[in-house]
Amino acid sequence: MDKIIVAAAADARSLALVTPDTLAAWTAALPEATRRWLDGAGFEGKPGDLALLPDGDARERVAAVLVFADDFSPDDFWRLAGLPVRLPPGDWAIATALAPAAATRVATAWGIGGYQFTRYRKAARASARLVMPAAADGAAVERAVEANGFVRDLVNTPAQDMGPGELAEAARAMAAELGMTCRIVTGADLLAEGHRLIHAVGRAASRPPRLIDLSWGDPSHPKVTLIGKGVCFDSGGLDLKGADGMKLMKKDMGGAAHVLGLARMVVRAGLRLRLRVLVPAVENAVSGDAFRPLDIVTSRKGMTVEIGNTDAEGRLILADALDLASTDQPGLIIDMATLTGAARVALGPDLAAAFCNDEAVAAALARHAAAEADPVWRLPLWKPYRSMLDSKAADINNVGSGPMGGAITAALFMQEFVGSGISWIHFDIYAWNASARPGRPEGAAAQAVRALFALLAERAA
Ligand code: BES
Ligand code: MN
Ligand code: ZN
Repeated sequence: MDKIIVAAAADARSLALVTPDTLAAWTAALPEATRRWLDGAGFEGKPGDLALLPDGDARERVAAVLVFADDFSPDDFWRLAGLPVRLPPGDWAIATALAPAAATRVATAWGIGGYQFTRYRKAARASARLVMPAAADGAAVERAVEANGFVRDLVNTPAQDMGPGELAEAARAMAAELGMTCRIVTGADLLAEGHRLIHAVGRAASRPPRLIDLSWGDPSHPKVTLIGKGVCFDSGGLDLKGADGMKLMKKDMGGAAHVLGLARMVVRAGLRLRLRVLVPAVENAVSGDAFRPLDIVTSRKGMTVEIGNTDAEGRLILADALDLASTDQPGLIIDMATLTGAARVALGPDLAAAFCNDEAVAAALARHAAAEADPVWRLPLWKPYRSMLDSKAADINNVGSGPMGGAITAALFMQEFVGSGISWIHFDIYAWNASARPGRPEGAAAQAVRALFALLAERAA
């Protein structure tokens, strides 16, 4: 992809960013003719309004103004992210003085808004480029924008070209690029290491399951382990999905893409952490060898799991990964997964659901989510619902007995595999934008990655 943020440009056009508070002063300084132009163009000065105008210093050039609220809200972030495709292509420089935090936020939003998925066709139009504002933390902007594009490219790629093997290769390439160690366990080798749940979910596919295991950083630094759901396509298995439910399931490796993107940021920033990334990568397919409803599989932990529904496959593969992650007693485990439709019923597409067993970590997460305009909403690990997972024949069933509380029972299932004394955050995300909005084309969406990076940066400090 072409660069969306550039260090400098010879002849950049100027963009004013005004807020409802600074609008009057900005307007007052304009030539009378320009004021009349804006009036005639229907510019009202409401947040999100954008207008092109003649440049005050050089009349033959175009300038622009965007009204933004400057309130660190997600709405404001997406207003700014809309600029690269709302403005005419070419180079733009911000003419308004911005404080460092605001400059960094503006540039980050711009870079994220300039993303286009170009693996299978050319970009519809060139994104307008931004000259990095002087006050911005350029390295932070670059890291966040790069990781965002990395996540969305993986999620947008069709399952045909992003199976367990391709996902593993993407992780291997990233490890080589960033100096991480990489170990990949494939197919029947998973059984020898106890990952019977990962194997059961993935074995029916002609593309064998994998467990991707990356590590990086000084072993004496605080340990953090990231786990991502890597279901490269979720047909539902024998409990097959209908056409509507199956359509978007190329994105069911969204959790894996998210944790790989987050890991990129951590490593490139050189955070003082010992990082491990685990991605069980499978295709939930149908064949004569598919796992079946009411099969009982012994997890890596030794707990027996009755399969109430083969479409609740994410929690199964994550269970073995959580158990493995727990063996080296990290201070924090974060998993990310496109896990349940129920989380979407509860919170809609844009709010990442987070479950956390540690009040201090949950409070820090909420604080960073607000500061980064990267929204996260907590749901409860409500213990009394654990009985919904009781099985008639095994230690636990993989689905709740009734139709209610599905995101919570999924989280409670996974909590069984988190070692005691380990802080844990579980994300149930959508990883998708269903219809185009400014800054957010239809397709993959990265959620909570910037908030989590801020949380980890604070932990490492
Ligand atoms: N990958 C799906 C969850 C999903 C579906 C996320 C649609 C986002 C959009 C997951 O594997 C799944 O199928 N979950 C089932 C669980 C049920 C069988 C208990 C669900 O949510 O319906
Ligand atoms: Mn499923
Ligand atoms: Zn799934």
